[in-house]
Amino acid sequence: MADAELEARILFVKEQMGDSLLILGHHYQQDEVIRFADLRGDSFKLSKLAAVDASCRSIVFCGVHFMAETADILSRQDVEVYLPDLAAGCSMADMADLLSVEAAWHDLAQVTNVDDLMPVTYVNSSAELKAFCGRHGGIVCTSSNARAVLEWAFARRDRVLFFPDQHLGRNTARRMGISLEEMTVWDPREPLGGNTPERILSSRVLLWKGHCSVHQMFKPNHVEQFRRRFPGCKILVHPECMMQVVDAADMVGSTEFIIKTITEAAAGSTWGVGTELHLVNRLAHENPDKCIHFLSPMVCMCATMFRIDMPHLAWCLENLARGTPVNRIKVAEETARWARLALERMLEVR
Ligand code: 13P
Ligand code: SF4
Repeated sequence: MADAELEARILFVKEQMGDSLLILGHHYQQDEVIRFADLRGDSFKLSKLAAVDASCRSIVFCGVHFMAETADILSRQDVEVYLPDLAAGCSMADMADLLSVEAAWHDLAQVTNVDDLMPVTYVNSSAELKAFCGRHGGIVCTSSNARAVLEWAFARRDRVLFFPDQHLGRNTARRMGISLEEMTVWDPREPLGGNTPERILSSRVLLWKGHCSVHQMFKPNHVEQFRRRFPGCKILVHPECMMQVVDAADMVGSTEFIIKTITEAAAGSTWGVGTELHLVNRLAHENPDKCIHFLSPMVCMCATMFRIDMPHLAWCLENLARGTPVNRIKVAEETARWARLALERMLEVR
């Protein structure tokens, strides 16, 4: 089907369903999709939007699976959430599963008092892991509030088990003054995560060995090359980038922070931005008075975000309007109950 026809069909359903339909779009979505979103945001903003919308009956989530699950957990009971392509997952979220986290918890209990260990999951994780945190007094964080969440955790317990993104955990903890000697990586494939009992006992932060395959493509030498090419430029990166990249950058922050910083930057300023390609290209387009460049010479785009395209969106919307919905994301009630607790703790953290 030609793009013009797909566009007309998507707009027709939006018109037909009116306020009963809410299309949410994450900033990493491709342009051809994000333009149909009623509301855009990073994962924190979208979580809050799903929690407060009072009029919609259906949310079509243009993003990835864990985001749709979060929307299902936080939205009203009578709201149904759909993901246009079920293959839109997150490779980082897949790096920690419930069985491995439960096994880690069990192993850690042999070495330390787990009542003093706070599980913190990045929102990029399955609902089951959020529920694990809910059951164990723990909490969820996003890249927008990771520091406030870690402060919340350390106000209550001595140690944190942070999953699945080691980089967000490490970058955030370091900015709070926690040294590298006080952190260790937990490799779920190794006995005791690849640690000695002494190493665990001397660590305040245990970092799950997971990463984002997109953000880990940015390397410190990209920062050096960029500074040589554009003297006087500023480097702005997402905290899922490795520590050496974050250390070499001028600024680090979540997707919303990156957008705000570029939008408010002085005309004529030059920026190297280390985050997902579609967002950087859109920022360059929307800020023609500034020089916005992608930090890496390689293409780093989120292939799973990219799975949401016009054909899938049109198919999902038309089936919804016809009363034959497809790709509903429904978290099992017991899981949702505990996951909601961990998410609500996050939403209360300032
Ligand atoms: P944000 O929390 O900044 O939206 O990031 C989500 C994500 O998946 C980044 O890779
Ligand atoms: Fe997951 Fe990375 Fe894609 Fe974000 S950019 S959704 S962390 S794979």
